[in-house]
Amino acid sequence: MTRTPVIEACGLTKQFNSFTAVDGIDFSIFDSECFGFLGPNGAGKTTTMKMIYCLSPRSSGELSIMGMDPERQPVAIKSMIGVVPQDNNLDPELTVAENLVVYSRFFGIPRKVYKERIEELLEFMSLDKKRNARIKELSGGMKRRLALVRALLNKPRILILDEPTTGLDPQVRHLIWEKLRQLKLSGVTMLLTTHYMEEASQICDRLVIMHEGKILLKGNPHQLVQEHTPNYVMEFSFNGCMVRPEKLAEKYACHIEIYGNRCFVYADSEPVLNQIRTDTKIDTRIIRTSNLEDLFLRLTGRGLHE
Ligand SMILES: Nc1ncnc2c1ncn2[C@@H]1O[C@H](COP(=O)(O)OP(=O)(O)O)[C@@H](O)[C@H]1O
Ligand SMILES: [Mg+2]
Repeated sequence: MTRTPVIEACGLTKQFNSFTAVDGIDFSIFDSECFGFLGPNGAGKTTTMKMIYCLSPRSSGELSIMGMDPERQPVAIKSMIGVVPQDNNLDPELTVAENLVVYSRFFGIPRKVYKERIEELLEFMSLDKKRNARIKELSGGMKRRLALVRALLNKPRILILDEPTTGLDPQVRHLIWEKLRQLKLSGVTMLLTTHYMEEASQICDRLVIMHEGKILLKGNPHQLVQEHTPNYVMEFSFNGCMVRPEKLAEKYACHIEIYGNRCFVYADSEPVLNQIRTDTKIDTRIIRTSNLEDLFLRLTGRGLHE
């Protein structure tokens, strides 16, 4: 049995004048999965999301959302999508509850229904005590949670989260991840953009790694790391004369990346890295398992936070 994708893109492209922000990308997203778009600032993540939620028309390529074309059936598509945009765009003069009422009316949700739903969702996101607070009185994390409540008002089948936790402190980030996991269990299909590799590997079933408008790799985050990077990495601050990277690579059959003044030595076994550390007297305590950040560095020669 072949599964029909909920969202399918083929050669999807967005140009701003002569600049290509999204450059012929292909992906398929299936029901109830959490699909990530991981990449640094400027990779084209938001532009891709905006084409999906019918805010920005594509320049070329194919895009289908539940079998519909965003250019021809935007109203039907929007009714099934919830969006947490990169900037919260909440009305700062209104209260939490008022913001949600305005939005519910916009979606044509009957008063009886939205009153109950707003209370339910505020409680779900632990914002019920803030229902009468003005937006400007909320912390960054509360605003983000409120944007998530708003995105859920129309009981969306697809939830788009554009950098849901960027700039938030670790506790709030973990709280939001927990809520996203619960939503995922309830069967919502989620699209999530992020430049946090930890977020991507914690939440996403599959992801694409984007860079300069293109998709470099796609797959399950853990499998991608396993397939494309050696298991272990030793990190240290590099000053050119300590070691000759080519020599190390040759002698120990390891792989080396230098990024700024950080040196990353990759090998499949931890003892090899320990041996290198002892032999070269490199002063570092960091020997760890490799992750998506290492993969990205290896693919592009730069970090996700550059
Ligand atoms: N409306 C626009 N006009 C011109 N260039 C744009 C516009 N929106 C985005 N871009 C450019 O497209 C590229 C991708 O942007 P964006 O999709 O916001 O990246 P990301 O969300 O991955 O950080 C960037 O170089 C950005 O400057
Ligand atoms: Mg963005």
